[in-house]
Amino acid sequence: MPDRTAVAGHCPMHGEHFDPFDLSDPFPSYQRLRAEAPVFYDETIGYWIVSRHADIKGVFEDWRNFSSENAQAPMRPMSETAKEVFEKADFTAYSGLSARVPPDHTRIRKVVTAVFTPRRYRALEPFVRDTIGAMLDAMLAKPNGDLVADLAYDLPALTILKLLGVPAEKVAEVKRWAKSRVLLTWGDLSDAEQTAHAENLVAYWNYCLAVVAARHAMLADDLPGDLVALQRDGAEITDHEIASFCYSLLTAGHETTTNLIANGLLTLLRHREAWSALVSDKAKIPGAIEEILRYAIG
Ligand code: HEM
Repeated sequence: MPDRTAVAGHCPMHGEHFDPFDLSDPFPSYQRLRAEAPVFYDETIGYWIVSRHADIKGVFEDWRNFSSENAQAPMRPMSETAKEVFEKADFTAYSGLSARVPPDHTRIRKVVTAVFTPRRYRALEPFVRDTIGAMLDAMLAKPNGDLVADLAYDLPALTILKLLGVPAEKVAEVKRWAKSRVLLTWGDLSDAEQTAHAENLVAYWNYCLAVVAARHAMLADDLPGDLVALQRDGAEITDHEIASFCYSLLTAGHETTTNLIANGLLTLLRHREAWSALVSDKAKIPGAIEEILRYAIG
């Protein structure tokens, strides 16, 4: 239990502008928090909120005092019916890496780092280029294009499916599962909504277990196949941990990038001079992506 007497200041904005679940334009409230309540305990979500860069960095670098073990814990308590769905299905999914701590984090990270090879990324590049080309052609052939619906939503998911050896036909299902996972973890859902999303998570986890079982039946030239092969060679990783890693990547590997593409375009549309600078000098694109990752969230 945190020592609430140590609170540096209560949120000055309750009932006014600060809503931890509203990411539509959080920047003015972040600015006020940094100035007026850089560390406070938010009663509505039951978490401490830290908003200054140096403090956040300090928290991230001190995993013993600020464990990441609850990084994937739902923001809202699970309803009884959602819990029942999980119990009945013997649902044991766990975070691949981000909610683990040493020594497990160190051990698993060492094994999975060995399969994130430049060869795997290089092999994906032609697929990504061809997919973008086809998506843009289809979008431009329509009277009205929508970059999110026509490209940003599916492209990163199709890429991660390719990396994991999951058939492209699964894309809509995987997007639905990932959405359920994000909403159940960080969303503000009613009890009934939680139950529907819990059903999706059970299907999602069972699919990850099935991927690992399939690689045991027949090895494949993909990321889960590589992990099963390493395990057979003596690497310290269990089937449950490989399935958990797939469970992580089938969300973290695309939802984040969809947001980056959408936020990136929006930011550049709002800053046309930056857009023009990138068009006239492509070498600036990697730096712009880094900056957009810092600048735009949601
Ligand atoms: C714009 C895209 C992305 C963003 C903004 C992003 C952001 C993040 C963040 C904030 C973390 C947590 C770091 C921590 O807990 O200290 C993380 C962890 C992770 N991400 Fe991403 N990510 C992105 C894309 C990807 C992609 C494409 C993949 C896989 C192909 C990926 C795989 C991972 C993994 C495996 C971890 C866990 C690392 C660990 O705990 O050791 N991410 N990411």
